Amino acid sequence: MRSPPFRYTLLAMAPKASETKAGEPRRGEAGAAGDPQPLDETLEVSLRGKTRRFPLVRGSEGETAVDIRALRAETGLITFDPGYANTGSCRSAITFIDGEEGILRYRGYPIEELAERSTFLEVAWLLMHGELPGRDELASFEHEVTHHTMLHENFGRFFGALPKDAHPMPVCAAAVGALATFYQEPESEQTIHDAIIRLLAKMPTIAACSYKHFLGQPFIYPRNDLDYASNFLRMMFATPCEEYAPDPLLAKTLDLLLILHADHEQNCSTSTVRMVGSSQANLFASISSGISALWGALHGGANQKVIEMLEEIAAEGGGAERFVQRAKDKNDTKRLMGFGHRVYKSYDPRATILKRYSREVLERVGGPAGSERLFEIAQRLEEIALSDEYFVSRKLYPNVDFYSGVIYKAMGIPTNMFTVMFTLGRLPGWIAQWLEMRGDPDFRIGRPRQVYTGATLRHIGG
Ligand code: ACO
Repeated sequence: MRSPPFRYTLLAMAPKASETKAGEPRRGEAGAAGDPQPLDETLEVSLRGKTRRFPLVRGSEGETAVDIRALRAETGLITFDPGYANTGSCRSAITFIDGEEGILRYRGYPIEELAERSTFLEVAWLLMHGELPGRDELASFEHEVTHHTMLHENFGRFFGALPKDAHPMPVCAAAVGALATFYQEPESEQTIHDAIIRLLAKMPTIAACSYKHFLGQPFIYPRNDLDYASNFLRMMFATPCEEYAPDPLLAKTLDLLLILHADHEQNCSTSTVRMVGSSQANLFASISSGISALWGALHGGANQKVIEMLEEIAAEGGGAERFVQRAKDKNDTKRLMGFGHRVYKSYDPRATILKRYSREVLERVGGPAGSERLFEIAQRLEEIALSDEYFVSRKLYPNVDFYSGVIYKAMGIPTNMFTVMFTLGRLPGWIAQWLEMRGDPDFRIGRPRQVYTGATLRHIGG
């Protein structure tokens, strides 16, 4: 393994907040999160005749927050915010989203530009280091990632111990957790760098193995002469008795999908990675927990649910209108999967890009029987929902998962692998957020409080 190209900030090395000026990165590494700007305004809280003032701070894109770190000490109060919809858990310089305007930027670059002009590994570097890589940096990074793709041979027995029909997501979470047992060196800049390279390099191998295990086929070893996406597709679809030549359009489309999923600020799985990492759990353990969080149907698991929904509608004769009625009915458990988002209150910009690509991929490769039909149903669902008062008034629009499944399906990716594909994409974002958290001198172990509503003191037999 080569030496780290950047200094990976460990907590002990970071300067104290007082050593940096507002808005300045905290240390030499590009992309470290700076302090938010303190404002002259304050938020006044009056309680039992006493007034306290809490400072307001502003981020570089104008998001204003009240700094309540002294709230409990000064008032005895805590905040109550289930689902954290109003809570800024950290400062971050990685991803900016304007949910009202449908804007997504990584390190300041619009997602549309990155999707058009970058590769996934360039974006991974950008997220982790704050700047796009120079030519030599990229070449060296690609070389390292390409040359650490193999798994320890013991992994064969590890996969073999799991049930044959195991869903690939928990298999991936377990395998990534297990990497921590193979690489147990004490934490240092070099070992953090090594862990990052190993994760990025081995994740496609793990993902493909989880699928081959499900199929009962032999694992296919990685090939170092292929690019990231082509290597993954080959590990998925080749067999020892039949080579598979990845279609360049499919490899490019997969690379694009990975870029679109690469980070999305403090979503459920990223917050999980930060939370677990905040206890100083290592990177493998933190990422493994992020994979588990991503699996849920309300998060990354939605892409699988979207295709299942489209297939259900197709099987019932294609009645998109009836399904939309069910999704609106509070007595029915159905939701319109792939619709709605905690942050986006307009069209998810990733969905716009994916809708266009769905059309191109379907025109070019056709996909398995019924792919075109599912795309038609998806478009019809979208059309109905976007003109329906229920969805309009709640600002529910297609999210990234709505069209990604249609593309995966056309590419021949099996449905139970969709969320694993999301994992492959989100990995660099999780790593970048973990690094940022570990380099923030203000970071403390994540430990929310609660409003206790259980039994008051009582005694056994009383
Ligand atoms: N179908 C029908 N109604 C919906 C949907 C939907 N997909 N999404 C939200 N609503 C309704 C809710 O019932 C609620 O209605 P109400 O105010 O009358 O009670 C209102 O819209 C607000 O919804 P919440 O669930 O409170 O919104 P929240 O921000 O908590 O949830 C979420 C966001 C989980 C994404 C939600 O929209 C949802 O379940 N969508 C479907 C699953 C999905 O696509 N998840 C992927 C998200 S993107 C990602 O994680 C990569």
